Amino acid sequence: MTEKKMVIITGSGIGIGKATALAFGKAGWHVVVTDILENEGEAVKEEIITQGGSAEFHFLDVTSSENVSSVVNSVEKSHNQPFAAAIANAGIAHKVLFDDMSDEKWAHTLDVDLTGEFRLVRAVTPGMKRASCGSIVCVSSVMGTTYGWHDHVQYNAAKSGVVGLVRGLACDLGSHGIRVNGLAPGFIRTAQALSTVHSLGPEGLEKAAEYIPLGRIGEADEMADVIVFMCSNGARYLTGQTIIVDGGVTVGRY
Ligand SMILES: NC(=O)c1ccc[n+]([C@@H]2O[C@H](COP(=O)([O-])OP(=O)(O)OC[C@H]3O[C@@H](n4cnc5c(N)ncnc54)[C@H](O)[C@@H]3O)[C@@H](O)[C@H]2O)c1
Repeated sequence: MTEKKMVIITGSGIGIGKATALAFGKAGWHVVVTDILENEGEAVKEEIITQGGSAEFHFLDVTSSENVSSVVNSVEKSHNQPFAAAIANAGIAHKVLFDDMSDEKWAHTLDVDLTGEFRLVRAVTPGMKRASCGSIVCVSSVMGTTYGWHDHVQYNAAKSGVVGLVRGLACDLGSHGIRVNGLAPGFIRTAQALSTVHSLGPEGLEKAAEYIPLGRIGEADEMADVIVFMCSNGARYLTGQTIIVDGGVTVGRY
């Protein structure tokens, strides 16, 4: 049983989720690492513990309401406390030509990237309501706040949906002391962005850097630090906002 404040992070075996798990570990939280990537998730848990932090790993597929709820409930029960923070980070960005867009391809991205985030929020809010406090961060994208992305219309729709989800949840949950915010990353060096099949790939990322006012691609830990801040007391009056963290690309690209 941990006395530390607990945070749960979906998709935290690699990428932004992993960096966020490590950052919460360093900040003194008990980190519940979750992913469908079991080896990677276990390795993140071990890394946090090696660094002197506290963590556990659970397999969690955000497309399963049952899986999400059972992980949240069993962890809360075993530590006899609710989650103080939840990070809905898991996401996919599949390239699909619009002419090939089937109901299944459309629904799969929406299921992971939008409904998957809702499922985590639904599972953690009863405990947060009992505690009258909590902080939730939902990961969107500049492809949800600002840009269209060719061959990724279902991703655009899902990530824009996250912005609305954050607004609505902030209204529903604010009176319970629960804050809900979004993070919209720009171009970040992770497996998602480095994929040449589904995204820009290494060369495309370097080209994109030319349009970024800070002159470089973002790193996962630069997203993690903002997420940890959003869950800190320093952000106590912040709710309902999706913060763009993109090195300036959305204001500088013309
Ligand atoms: N990398 C970028 O440039 C960028 C930009 C904007 C937004 N984002 C968003 O940031 C978040 C993290 O992405 P990333 O860049 O770290 O990508 P990533 O591919 O490195 O990590 C995605 C994580 O989500 C997990 N995941 C996928 N499907 C899942 C499921 N059904 N259940 C549970 N976990 C699942 C993966 O296993 C992986 O751990 C995503 O929501 C992504 O859309 C990333």
